[in-house]
Amino acid sequence: MKRLFSLIVLFSFFQSAAQLKPSDSIRLENLLKQMTLEEKIGQMNMYTGNIFGDDPVFTADFKYDDLKNGRVGAVLNVNGIKNTRLLQEMALQSRLKIPLLFGNDVLHGLHLLFPIPLAEAASWDIGLMEKTARIAAIESSARGNNWFFQPMVDITHDPRWGRVMEGAGEDPYLGSLIAAARVKGYQGNKLGDTNSVMATAKHFAAYGAAVGGRDYNTVDMSNQELWNVYLPPFKAAAEAGASSFMNSFNTLNGVPTTASSYLQRDILKGVWGFKGFVVSDWGSVGDMIAHGYVKDAAGAALASVTAGVDMDMEDQIYKKQLPRLVADGKVPVELIDDAVRRILAKKFELGLFDDPFKFIKEERWQKAINNPAHIATAREMAGKSIVLLKNEVPKGRTSPVLPLSKNVKTIALIGPHIMSVRENLGFWSPWWPDDSARIITQYQGIKNKVSRGTTLLYAKGCEVSDTSTAGFAEAVRIARQADVVIMSMGEQYDMSGESRSRSDITFPGVQEALIKAVYATGTPIVMLINAGRPLVFDWAADHVPAILYTWWLGTTAGGAIGDVLFGDYNPSGKLPITFPRSVGQIPIFYNHLSTGKPPKNDSVAYYRTGYIDLMQNPKFAFGHGLSYTTFEYSSLKMSDSIIKSGESVRVSLSVTNTGKVSGEETVQLYLRDRVASIVRPVKELKDFKKVVLKPGEAQTVIFEITPDKLAFYNEQGKLITEPGEFDIMIGSASDDIRLKGKFELEG
Ligand code: NOJ
Repeated sequence: MKRLFSLIVLFSFFQSAAQLKPSDSIRLENLLKQMTLEEKIGQMNMYTGNIFGDDPVFTADFKYDDLKNGRVGAVLNVNGIKNTRLLQEMALQSRLKIPLLFGNDVLHGLHLLFPIPLAEAASWDIGLMEKTARIAAIESSARGNNWFFQPMVDITHDPRWGRVMEGAGEDPYLGSLIAAARVKGYQGNKLGDTNSVMATAKHFAAYGAAVGGRDYNTVDMSNQELWNVYLPPFKAAAEAGASSFMNSFNTLNGVPTTASSYLQRDILKGVWGFKGFVVSDWGSVGDMIAHGYVKDAAGAALASVTAGVDMDMEDQIYKKQLPRLVADGKVPVELIDDAVRRILAKKFELGLFDDPFKFIKEERWQKAINNPAHIATAREMAGKSIVLLKNEVPKGRTSPVLPLSKNVKTIALIGPHIMSVRENLGFWSPWWPDDSARIITQYQGIKNKVSRGTTLLYAKGCEVSDTSTAGFAEAVRIARQADVVIMSMGEQYDMSGESRSRSDITFPGVQEALIKAVYATGTPIVMLINAGRPLVFDWAADHVPAILYTWWLGTTAGGAIGDVLFGDYNPSGKLPITFPRSVGQIPIFYNHLSTGKPPKNDSVAYYRTGYIDLMQNPKFAFGHGLSYTTFEYSSLKMSDSIIKSGESVRVSLSVTNTGKVSGEETVQLYLRDRVASIVRPVKELKDFKKVVLKPGEAQTVIFEITPDKLAFYNEQGKLITEPGEFDIMIGSASDDIRLKGKFELEG
């Protein structure tokens, strides 16, 4: 029954699959008419390039013959212009001369590396994220890429999951804005421009909810959680015009997403009217055999093509199985035509039929890279991604540790990340050796800031995953000589990323012991934490007076860290994800539902929703992030306290910079729907505004609470609004609410 429904939905979209110029629509239909079944299936087949090696293609038993005979529609992760050109030339020797798509995992830039996506999310600067995405597209589109496997828009509540670094954190509202911004950034004004690349929303869907944070693991969730938490960023990406969607490795409620007609046909291509095409994840078609969902490759091809997967990444299962499935009448040729039409439409939209080499331009690539304006944007983004978690006045001093004076007499620089180039770049940065000389270390970034009279002492102390404490003595010795210590600690660049889940997300190796040894010297410490995920560092968070979360910031990390340490940039980042106190507290996230026993305080038994051995709140809450200045919130005003359906409430407040330096604050608006037909979260981010204020300056901030902000999805995936009371909470973080109000939506 479900399949029948899916097919009806599918056929109704045949005619509208392409958003093409009329002349290209005619060309496409003419081309489709000339194609043999083998050529059509060829368009649905994608091979893997060779990121590191000289051979252009990595796929086992790949033959150039496949290209010359139209049996390949796309290749991913091809290394460099030369290989890309070679493969395109081969494809153009085919009978119908259909050009290839070249896909790539440009997660946070190609040559110029931006902060990892999770770090960028901490900037809450949607416009700047669109800008960095644009720059990544400008660079990559000259090096042959016309298709990004990005943005990764998976929500997650589990920092053990290695792929938390690729996304925007835990919040569906923030995640949706970021998803749309990145799609727009990659695709630019329109596909067809020479520096626009196709965006892919991935991984569809619910991949970030893998049980235990173990990659590729099972997902079981209610429909209301799927619709309210995990799907919104995908919907936002589709609405922003994402050209393709990639499915995921997980099962969702017992069905591999690759075989999910519900996700791909009913929701994506049906309800959302998505006109692009769906690509499998790498090998996810064949993975269904291991899942135990199908018994063989033919079953895998049948299940995935029926469910709406238009292109098979790497498996060659479509290539090998679809001809027979069509011949046997198991797969209607209309399904194949629909998939091919969607793929070809994108090739036309990109302009590949008019100029198959438009994205393969050595000259343009050389001009695009090392662009000073782009580097400045990267540095701005790196500065904005840094989160000041803590900044206390150390014992015996009168002001907070940060910002540091450029005239400090002696600074001890300690830790495995101080001198590193590689660790700043993070996972998904395979092309970095291209030009490593341009990447300055944190040491150099600091050196560039301090006065001539400042002495910098350096001791590594330990390696990232060291078991040896042999370097401690030297670290302690220099800490004793210094006025302040900067310790740079954290993960190695490949400890977060695909297939990089960790059961223990504390500092690896002996790093915590090193922090304790240095702390014992009494010299104030500023800690930089470099990681691809929220780490657990309870002891350090309680003892070290100043902590900057620096994630993996990319090419310009050293410079941006220098800017923040010495006050040339006042930190403004806010956490896009909750930081737990211990691994045992995971999953922990701010927008949870209320239990029937909301916490009173930790000591009241039977009202304790946490653990008897741990405080119930997280270490650092969603939205948290300090500044070198302070902001006061006052004068909350609301336009109405009772509204009718379809009406909005206007809320205004005043924010004043009460400190001594200019700064940027992200004013966050949360709502709570008090009573509903399904229990709603204790608070949900619904809007935020950034204000930049000079010392003493005040600004009125206005929020418009529009009807869509009151709506939620029911179990059937229907967006509904129910009358009743709504709480308004406005503050500097999800756990730092400064102003409250409420209003009623009349029935
Ligand atoms: C597998 C990953 O899950 C996906 O995100 C990526 O795009 C593909 N490999 C291609 O590299």
